[in-house]
Amino acid sequence: MSRTVYVNGEYVAEEDAKISIFDRGFLMADGVYEVTSVLGGKLIDFEGHSVRLQRSLSELDMAAPVDMDELLAIHRELVKVNEIDDGLVYLQVTRGSDGDRDFVFPDPEKTPSTLVLFTQNKPGITESPASKTGIKVISVEDQRWTRRDIKTVQLLYPSMCKMMAKAAGCQDAWLVEDGKVTEGSSNNAYIVKDGKIITREISNDILNGITRAAVLRFAREAQMIVEERSFTIEEAQQADEAFVTSATTFVLPVVEIDGAQIGDGKPGSVAPRLREIYLEESRKTAI
Ligand code: PDD
Repeated sequence: MSRTVYVNGEYVAEEDAKISIFDRGFLMADGVYEVTSVLGGKLIDFEGHSVRLQRSLSELDMAAPVDMDELLAIHRELVKVNEIDDGLVYLQVTRGSDGDRDFVFPDPEKTPSTLVLFTQNKPGITESPASKTGIKVISVEDQRWTRRDIKTVQLLYPSMCKMMAKAAGCQDAWLVEDGKVTEGSSNNAYIVKDGKIITREISNDILNGITRAAVLRFAREAQMIVEERSFTIEEAQQADEAFVTSATTFVLPVVEIDGAQIGDGKPGSVAPRLREIYLEESRKTAI
């Protein structure tokens, strides 16, 4: 059965969805996105994702295509019509199409932004095998642009990093700049040492993860110590545990970095505990 997707005010079958070849998202990667997970048919951390979307739009002088109440209604409608129990909603806003190719931004009064949403069905997403075994990562030089705080659709380099990881028999890559880990190719990166959770501080160098904010809040509420600072690959390799967070992976243990086993090579106690707390707490506030 084909999915129902949302394109600029309309709900249509995925095979009937159309976007102009002049859309700036297609020509220039001039667009931003959000991924919101769905558990038990409800949206996780929706408010955080919608606040970050507004920030991404405003940093790029891009008009919001609909207000946030409308956005919530669209998310809910897609979850309903596509009967998503566990999965996600992908949302993308681009600067639209002025019917030609030009580096200069079109006048937003004349060129409305494009809004597209679709769902992905992922039954059993919380019980993924990787969450039990952990994943292996490689380190790769961070060659992305330096406004990583804006969630743009420029994902070619992260895709290349995932391919490099795959070629090395790993599942993901941690990006390194000036000797320090910035983040994972599509997630935030953490280590645990002597019970302390260490993750890079928020700046333009990384995406301000919505899952990160929630996980750190829950960790502090559970009296765990959190240190927001950068760390090297060497420090990570000597840590007791490592893990990543994102809307699609929640909290996912990392058990090997560049061939070096972390701890005893199995998920430790902190990451699985944080995963459990995160899932439990976010289900409570899901909408
Ligand atoms: N990625 N850092 C990067 C570079 C990301 O792409 C993501 C999310 C995160 C985590 O952010 P959040 O917790 O808000 O999902 C950090 C999404 C899931 C993706 O591209 O599919």
